[in-house]
Amino acid sequence: MDNMNEKEIIPRINKIKKSLGDKLIILTHHYQRKEIVDLGDYKGDSFDLSQKAAADKAAQYIVFCGVHFMAESAEILSQPYQTVQIPVMDAGCWMADMADIFMVEKAWEEIASVIGPDGVVPIVYMNSDANLKAFCGRNGGVVCTSSNATAALEWGYSQKNKILFFPDQHLGRNTGNQMGIPSDEMIVWSPNERLGGHSPEDIQKARLILWDGYCLVHTRFQVDHIRQVRRKYPDATIVVHPECTEEVVALADAAGSTSFIVKYVENAPANSTIVIGTEVNLVHRLALEYPDKKIFELHYSLCPNMFKTDPESLLRTLENIGQFNMIHLPEAIKEDSRLALDRMLTLTKK
Ligand code: 13P
Ligand code: SF4
Repeated sequence: MDNMNEKEIIPRINKIKKSLGDKLIILTHHYQRKEIVDLGDYKGDSFDLSQKAAADKAAQYIVFCGVHFMAESAEILSQPYQTVQIPVMDAGCWMADMADIFMVEKAWEEIASVIGPDGVVPIVYMNSDANLKAFCGRNGGVVCTSSNATAALEWGYSQKNKILFFPDQHLGRNTGNQMGIPSDEMIVWSPNERLGGHSPEDIQKARLILWDGYCLVHTRFQVDHIRQVRRKYPDATIVVHPECTEEVVALADAAGSTSFIVKYVENAPANSTIVIGTEVNLVHRLALEYPDKKIFELHYSLCPNMFKTDPESLLRTLENIGQFNMIHLPEAIKEDSRLALDRMLTLTKK
């Protein structure tokens, strides 16, 4: 979009927002472009935004600037009189696509064939299809985000002594490490192999079964990037998202959700240097918001799906409010997934 267009688009968006008033709420994820975050009413991590979608009863129209699974969760948690729209329907998530209901049901049956039924709690990361959240709802499980994964695992172990965690192996492993689960009690489930590639004994012994999924944006950060930063900026602190590998998390000073990272920067003293291992749009926005601190990316890594939403697609959505790119889900899926999301909303955030 050239400057001329942007000059026209932004006032048109603001005009529609003004005319709809409280009937409209625009939710924006921290990874959205700065122009979109500036146009939104509320920004946050995936947990904050689902909480907001569940709590806002005044809005008739919820426009979700983020990726598809986030808008789906907002739809599940919203009221029947509310509509949820996403500016770009094909803004997906590579990691979410790494597990589907057929694969998970097959894994579930295979695990049951080894340990018997009812021996494992399913915990699904928010970054997943609604079908998988519904699966967790039906099977006594919960949804978690990167901000409450520890609370979700603690809750899971209060139910049973084994957890199947999907689709992000890294968030699962980093949380397991933080809880002191020994590495030989965490196994990675390869969905294309029989018994996930394990012996029945390994499955019996495992406390945490991690799906073989990962985020391509976050696994781009490498140990070498951390070493280079430590050499170049010896006084810097490094904060990363828990979708990074355990090696990267181990060498960083802190790890947490996108909101955790925002607060980390906010609380850092003036003139400090902070190097961030997460999606680059958030890093660049923080650098602009905190000119008194030196903020750099650990490595350039952009989520192309988050980047799909631009002012033009937001305007198109607002011009077709309540009609265009609506999120619709079958009632049965909504009902079951709501169980797992409601359980999540009772968990404490880190
Ligand atoms: P948060 O839950 O930290 O907002 O992260 C969502 C996400 O997609 C990270 O890649
Ligand atoms: Fe999905 Fe990774 Fe993009 Fe987050 S950053 S939305 S996990 S692809």
